Amino acid sequence: MATGRILIPGCGTGHDVRAIAAACPEAEVIGIDISPTALEQAEAQSNPANAYYQLCDLFDLPADLKGSCDWLVEHTCYCAIDPAMRPAYAGAITQLLRPSIGQLLGIFFIDPYDDEHQSGGGPPHGTELAELESRFVAGLGFTEAQAYTPDVSYPGREGRERLIWYQQQPSES
Ligand SMILES: C[S@@+](CC[C@H](N)C(=O)[O-])C[C@H]1O[C@@H](n2cnc3c(N)ncnc32)[C@H](O)[C@@H]1O
Repeated sequence: MATGRILIPGCGTGHDVRAIAAACPEAEVIGIDISPTALEQAEAQSNPANAYYQLCDLFDLPADLKGSCDWLVEHTCYCAIDPAMRPAYAGAITQLLRPSIGQLLGIFFIDPYDDEHQSGGGPPHGTELAELESRFVAGLGFTEAQAYTPDVSYPGREGRERLIWYQQQPSES
């Protein structure tokens, strides 16, 4: 059971925030989103006492969040943003995580290309395992602690999601 600060970027109406806060009662769980409407809806739900929401842009983070997160949980933020912003997303991840020890748990939507929503060019925007490897392992120096295709998926995404748990390399002292 995770403790410390867990942050969900692009939390939308807060499904993940509520589920993780309920599962990790000793953690402080923060959902951030750029949409005031989404956060109004999130806050109107029945939220655990350890669930919080903060209106902010992932690409313009406030100082109080930087370097403060023990865990980041990615779920459909990466596929929602313009792929041109993915280098900035990786930069935001490193800004948010506690140096050397913060961890990233992502459920990445690997192959939305045949999704009905894809007809207009997305979002969701596709990604591939090689791109994730290049961005997070080669690019940021993370290691993959675990990676698998979940048995249980969001309806319509069966076999097209990939859970990846990334860890940072401990700093040498
Ligand atoms: C597909 S939704 C995520 C939904 C969420 N996982 C859920 O289950 O409710 C993507 C979210 O990312 C948010 N988002 C997009 N760009 C953002 C940014 N630059 N900073 C913060 N949030 C952003 C959107 O407002 C949207 O709520």
